[in-house]
Amino acid sequence: MNSPSRKPSAESATRLDSFWMPFTANRQFKGRPRMLQSAEGMFYTDTEGRQVLDGTAGLWCCNAGHGRREIAEAVSRQISQMDFAPTFQMGHPLPFELAEQLAGIAPPGLNRVFFTNSGSEAVDTALKIALAYHRARGEGSRRLLIGRELAYHGVGFGGISVGGIANNRRAYTTLPNVDHLPHTLDLERNAFTRGLPVNGAEQADHLERLVNLHGAENIAAVIVEPLSGSAGVILPPVGYLQRLREITRRHGIVLIFDEVITGFGRVGAPFAAQRWEVVPDMLTAAKGLTNGAIPMGAVLLHSALQDALMSGPEQQIEFFHGYTYSGHPVAAAAALATLEIYRSEQLLTRAADLEEDWQTLLHSLAGLPNVVDIRNTGLVGAVHLASRENSPGSRGYEVFERCFREGLLVRCTGDIIALSPPLIIEPGHMDRIIDTLGSVIQRTA
Ligand SMILES: Cc1ncc(COP(=O)(O)O)c(C=O)c1O
Repeated sequence: MNSPSRKPSAESATRLDSFWMPFTANRQFKGRPRMLQSAEGMFYTDTEGRQVLDGTAGLWCCNAGHGRREIAEAVSRQISQMDFAPTFQMGHPLPFELAEQLAGIAPPGLNRVFFTNSGSEAVDTALKIALAYHRARGEGSRRLLIGRELAYHGVGFGGISVGGIANNRRAYTTLPNVDHLPHTLDLERNAFTRGLPVNGAEQADHLERLVNLHGAENIAAVIVEPLSGSAGVILPPVGYLQRLREITRRHGIVLIFDEVITGFGRVGAPFAAQRWEVVPDMLTAAKGLTNGAIPMGAVLLHSALQDALMSGPEQQIEFFHGYTYSGHPVAAAAALATLEIYRSEQLLTRAADLEEDWQTLLHSLAGLPNVVDIRNTGLVGAVHLASRENSPGSRGYEVFERCFREGLLVRCTGDIIALSPPLIIEPGHMDRIIDTLGSVIQRTA
């Protein structure tokens, strides 16, 4: 193998070649690394000692901000007391307590919890529960899973199959029994809408067409992100989620909300299901569940789904599925400490209080060069930039890179700049995010 990457001084002692970074242009990154070293509150500090304002809560994870002592101490206590305990035919108290607390903040009826280690695993678990549920009820012909164009549901084979981002699918194989709804991004009708777009609820009616095409008796589940984050903050048109709920209910189809990024206060309620008053049969969560401190995911489901699997003899395992680390004691301790912070600081509803100011600031970027749309809800924002001819994604990447060099972490997906700051954000941080981003966009041709 030839030529190790060029490295700046701070990294010169460490070779960068061995770590194959996920979802990263490795050669580009290793030619000019961006290395974070520590984190506190709203800020990262990089390996050069520069402060970087976190405009993305890490990766939609650190809703309570960074460096939370309560979580660190809970993790440390738990790892000393009991590092690991199996949850296959054995138990320990923490995941039971955590599941009960999650049911307490979940939309009504979602009072069973299956733990995983990530959002991807939560998605695949939810899809399997839907299939097993129908089979247990004697409707085993329901095998079809319906996702949506531009959806991101993680990287498992289930997730990429129902997902709708071409680059995440095209090099692999996907499940056979899958179809997709159309996405709801509509710049022509909805550009620069403040809050949820008013046009597009009728896109949900496409589900009726899929029912006609495949037969309701063959469809197991529909999975959607209430708002698509990874594809660049695509919001649900007003009434869209309600229509999906109505159609799925009418045809006996399980409705799954993938709330891996919308969970835990991001849109101003514990879950988007509550903010937009549509209760699915299952929802997936991860990221903010432990404030990003320890990997953990979960599926929250209606008890009827579990009950359907409980008809065999008592000694029979009802669901042949689980992960060695499902309900890991250290992750559960982190999650319990995180929920306590969310409760005591009222972070699960704070985004609703800040939404209007955030919206006003964000939309002040309208009119800057190449800005073709601005989208927002809760503490989520997106600035959609026009793509350069023959070089899609390059403008977005340049803005992201410059923002980082100027002390602001944003996220770019293609030419869309996505923002999802920690929910502890104060007005001064918001101003700084908008000032830096605006100035960088202004200077990026
Ligand atoms: C909606 C959604 N689902 C699933 C995932 C996958 O989660 P993980 O990366 O923890 O596997 C993500 C990650 O960003 C996500 O945004």
